[in-house]
Amino acid sequence: MSIVLVGAPGSGKSTVGALLAERLGHRFVDVDAVIVSATGREISDIFAVDGEAAFRELEREHTLAALQEADTVVSLGGGAVMNDQIRDALGGHQVVWLQVPPGVAADRVGMNVARPLLLGNVRGRLAQLLRERTPLYEAVATHPVDASEGDAEAVTARVLEKL
Ligand code: S3P
Repeated sequence: MSIVLVGAPGSGKSTVGALLAERLGHRFVDVDAVIVSATGREISDIFAVDGEAAFRELEREHTLAALQEADTVVSLGGGAVMNDQIRDALGGHQVVWLQVPPGVAADRVGMNVARPLLLGNVRGRLAQLLRERTPLYEAVATHPVDASEGDAEAVTARVLEKL
C-alpha cells in the first residue's frame, strides 16, 4: 500500500510528498518527474509536440507502475484522476487530497510555463479544472486535507495527523 497525493496543480503535491516520504522513511515518486526522466523531455514539450492524448497515455503507464510499489509516497499529476484505470488502481491506497481554492493554487503556480494546460489564463484555467475535477478528487480521496494555509511543513504535519 502506498500514500498517494492528488490535487490541483499548485496544491503542493510534490513539496508535501517529498517531506512526507522523508518523515515516514518511504521512497518518494513524483510521476511528472518520472515521465520527464523516462522520456528525456519536458512535459510542456510532450504536450506541444505530441499533444495531450500522448501525455495522458504516458501518465497512465507510469502512474499505474508507480502504484505497484510498496511503502512509497506517490505524487500524481493534477489530471491523473481523469483516467478510469488510474482511479480504479487508487482503491486500497491511502489517497491524500490536498484541497486548495483556485486562487491559492494560481498564486503558487505563478506564471510557470512548465504547466501547458494553464498557459494564457492561469486563474481562469485553474478555476475551470477544479470545477471539472473536484468530484473526481472527492471520489478517490480517503484523506481530504486542507492545504490552503501554512507552508509545506505545516501541511505535511496536517497530513501526518490524519494518516
Ligand atoms: C496537469 C498537471 C501537471 C502535469 C501536466 C498536466 C494537469 O502536474 O501532469 O502538466 O492536467 O493538471 P501538476 O499537478 O504537478 O502541476
